[in-house]
Amino acid sequence: MASICVVGAGRMGSALARAFLRAGYVTHVWNRTPAKGEALAALGARFVPSLHQAIAASDIVVVNVIDYAAADAHLRSASVTRALGRKLLVQLTSGSPSQARQTGEWAKGHGVGYLDGAIMATPNFIGEPSATILYSGSQHAFDENRDVFLALGGNAVHVGDDFGHASALDIALLSQLWGTLFGTLQAIAVSQAEGIELDAYARYLQPFKPTIDGAVADLVTRARDGRYRGDDQTLAAIAAHYSAFQPLLEVSRERGLNRAVPDAFDSIFKAAIAAGHLQDDFAALTRFMR
Ligand SMILES: NC(=O)c1ccc[n+]([C@@H]2O[C@H](COP(=O)([O-])OP(=O)(O)OC[C@H]3O[C@@H](n4cnc5c(N)ncnc54)[C@H](OP(=O)(O)O)[C@@H]3O)[C@@H](O)[C@H]2O)c1
Repeated sequence: MASICVVGAGRMGSALARAFLRAGYVTHVWNRTPAKGEALAALGARFVPSLHQAIAASDIVVVNVIDYAAADAHLRSASVTRALGRKLLVQLTSGSPSQARQTGEWAKGHGVGYLDGAIMATPNFIGEPSATILYSGSQHAFDENRDVFLALGGNAVHVGDDFGHASALDIALLSQLWGTLFGTLQAIAVSQAEGIELDAYARYLQPFKPTIDGAVADLVTRARDGRYRGDDQTLAAIAAHYSAFQPLLEVSRERGLNRAVPDAFDSIFKAAIAAGHLQDDFAALTRFMR
């Protein structure tokens, strides 16, 4: 069984270390602020105050700190880089695709195996069968250590060789989440301004959800296939959407609501309409997001 070093014992890093301990891995922990690592020692982790010693004692190094700058500040010191040689470095810190690619190239240049991961879960789901973690980089490195990754989440998925792809998917999926959350903020603002109870809003949202999910699925499929023209299968053309969207602008004006979100939607609609897409499918807007 491989021995693991978890670098970072914040909320997520601690959850990762606890999951490794539960799965029976010898787990070394290093954290900038030692007290957090010491708390894990009570659960059986080997807390090592020196990072390069913690890494030297392990086969696989899993990093989860606040950002890549914090990770780099520690991993790229001469003694730590030396200790990493020929081991597998798994970067689970959130970052951009280019940061993942740069770190992957840096690791390769130092003879260190590298996988970049994106954790699509909160700490309470770590180690659960439903927890999804996406990994990119060498398929071989992923397959060889699949059990290690399954200890962190039952849905451990290799998404491609490009080091940046886990992070790119993370950004795309979070965009979906934020779109929904900001849409919900807008819905709450309109409901409250118009005297609709939020419980009632939530009740009417339920039966509308299949329509939302269907429209999202249709949009993704059309974007994949490049089917932007309005056709027999079009659910609603841009003209219909834009007409239904006007009352949101109106109620926002009348009630003095924050217009940042509707104004952003409006600017995208207007750009597409000015370019002659009024009768095209909503999917034609994809061109105006680039
Ligand atoms: N929490 C979540 O639900 C979640 C979900 C998915 C992904 N993530 C990602 O996981 C990472 C950690 O998140 P978290 O929720 O665990 O945050 P957190 O509880 O705030 O922990 C941050 C960790 O980063 C360390 N750190 C911060 N600055 C550092 C520096 N300059 N040098 C060394 N270590 C430094 C902290 O060490 P100290 O203890 O010394 O401050 C701590 O171990 C982030 O990239 C986050 O985006 C989190």
